[in-house]
Amino acid sequence: MSKLLSETEKTTIIDQNGSRQENILNILLALQEASAGGYVDQETIALVAKKLSTTETKVFEIASFYSMIETKPQAAYVLEVCNSAPCHFTKSDEVSGWLEAELGVKRGEPTSDGLFSFRFTPCVGACDVGPVIKVKDAVYGDLSRDKVKELIQNLKKSK
Ligand code: FES
Repeated sequence: MSKLLSETEKTTIIDQNGSRQENILNILLALQEASAGGYVDQETIALVAKKLSTTETKVFEIASFYSMIETKPQAAYVLEVCNSAPCHFTKSDEVSGWLEAELGVKRGEPTSDGLFSFRFTPCVGACDVGPVIKVKDAVYGDLSRDKVKELIQNLKKSK
């Protein structure tokens, strides 16, 4: 997991992503990606508001509106289950059910050890191997219940 970002590092990320209100979603996603807990905290929201000459309330509203932006600390591994149409037809709902059974938590809730959570995500560009799960930059496709179990075991071992 990455370290806490300094204000200078956050400012650099904002600048690299255009530093304008029309780029706010990309800015928030980039800050979330680089953050230690996989979320955008209040301090970061305040900085974005200042840099983009808008209000914290507006930035928070946008962050809360988009399901891919998190405003609370996330599990170490967030398993993103694609539920766009092609994957939906190749059983993304079933994958969600398998994860719920394997991890013992509902979608969006972290496991008690803070290691895993899972959520739906739009297409990750691997439609030909659906159903798929994305974990950080890696995509796992052609999933079966056994493959989902194996993925969880492997992630546990690598921690
Ligand atoms: S629809 Fe699932 S990866 Fe494209």
